[in-house]
Amino acid sequence: MHIEKVMVIGAGQMGSGIAQVCAQAGYEVYLNDLQEDIVKKGLGVIRKNLDRQVQKERITEDEKEGILGRFIQSTDLKDAENADIVIEAAVENLKIKMRIFEELDQYASEHAILATNTSSLPITEIAAATKRPEKVIGMHFMNPVPVMKLVEIIRGLATEDEVYQAVEEMTHRLKKVPVEVNDFPGFVSNRVLMPMINEAVYTLYEGVATKEAIDEVMKLGMNHPMGPLTLADFIGLDTCLYIMETLHEGFGDDKYRPCPLLRKYVKAGWLGKKAGRGFYEYR
Ligand code: CAA
Ligand code: NAD
Repeated sequence: MHIEKVMVIGAGQMGSGIAQVCAQAGYEVYLNDLQEDIVKKGLGVIRKNLDRQVQKERITEDEKEGILGRFIQSTDLKDAENADIVIEAAVENLKIKMRIFEELDQYASEHAILATNTSSLPITEIAAATKRPEKVIGMHFMNPVPVMKLVEIIRGLATEDEVYQAVEEMTHRLKKVPVEVNDFPGFVSNRVLMPMINEAVYTLYEGVATKEAIDEVMKLGMNHPMGPLTLADFIGLDTCLYIMETLHEGFGDDKYRPCPLLRKYVKAGWLGKKAGRGFYEYR
């Protein structure tokens, strides 16, 4: 399975990061979102990241232009017909992802791998939206993608070994480290991380400490690079809530119940850094 052309669906914080590292590794990249202005915004973020690399003399201006020249903007899922692998990074919603995979199944070429960057949702169920579950796999990057080394790779029930190997190889080419985990809600990363974040929201909700104090305790006391509430804002409070709901529903255990304060913030549209306001304000 030879991968040269990649399509990334969703040009938000994860999709743009995935597209950036793919183009930097020499792949041709179709970057897709619902509207052209969102794709352009994603490309703007990529350009800014590359400008910083030029400033730091990690790449030359010519290399930057070469990387930017490997992008093709897309607002049509039909463009999947050109891709050897599609990496879906749209919102964390099972119905939306299943609809996307159903459509991709109609357009993507027979040999194409259909990967999802879902944080928590069942790969096997997403794969069942297609007639080629053997080509579907989880490829879970971490945020910010250009910096974080890990990619969790998750097989669905029917995923072929060849597909797994091709994705593992691609992960190495992206200069990332693949770790195989099984198809359970939240995989390993968010099964462990998200209950900690949710518990931090409970400590705020119950008045145990201020948001600044909660973050400071975890930064200075546990050497975490960001406090849990800052990290939640960085991930996106909508994404955090969807992940907690997946854990709660998937395991049926009350220990995963999303904190009502998290729910309230999402209902208010306080989605974190990307919305300008979450637990903190961003200007
Ligand atoms: N995009 C690209 N590069 C970025 C970036 C971004 N959004 N944010 C920071 N960087 C780069 C900076 O340019 C800098 O690069 P150089 O060293 O080459 O100059 C480097 O990262 C360090 O940045 P800073 O010095 O500005 O800041 P920092 O030292 O505080 O690091 C951080 C920033 C890497 C984000 C760090 O705070 C961190 O590791 N935070 C925790 C991140 C984390 O836990 N991610 C996982 C989230 S959970 C997830 O992803 C899974 C899920 O499904 C929800
Ligand atoms: P985001 O809100 O920044 O971006 C999502 C993008 O998907 C938006 O631009 C939206 O317009 C687009 N989109 C929605 N429906 C679409 C469709 N039908 N077709 C094409 N595009 C569509 O979200 P994000 O943080 O980039 O998260 C994307 C995915 O990555 C989610 O599944 C999330 O769980 C996962 N993820 C997120 C993080 C994180 O820290 N934020 C980390 C790892 C994985």
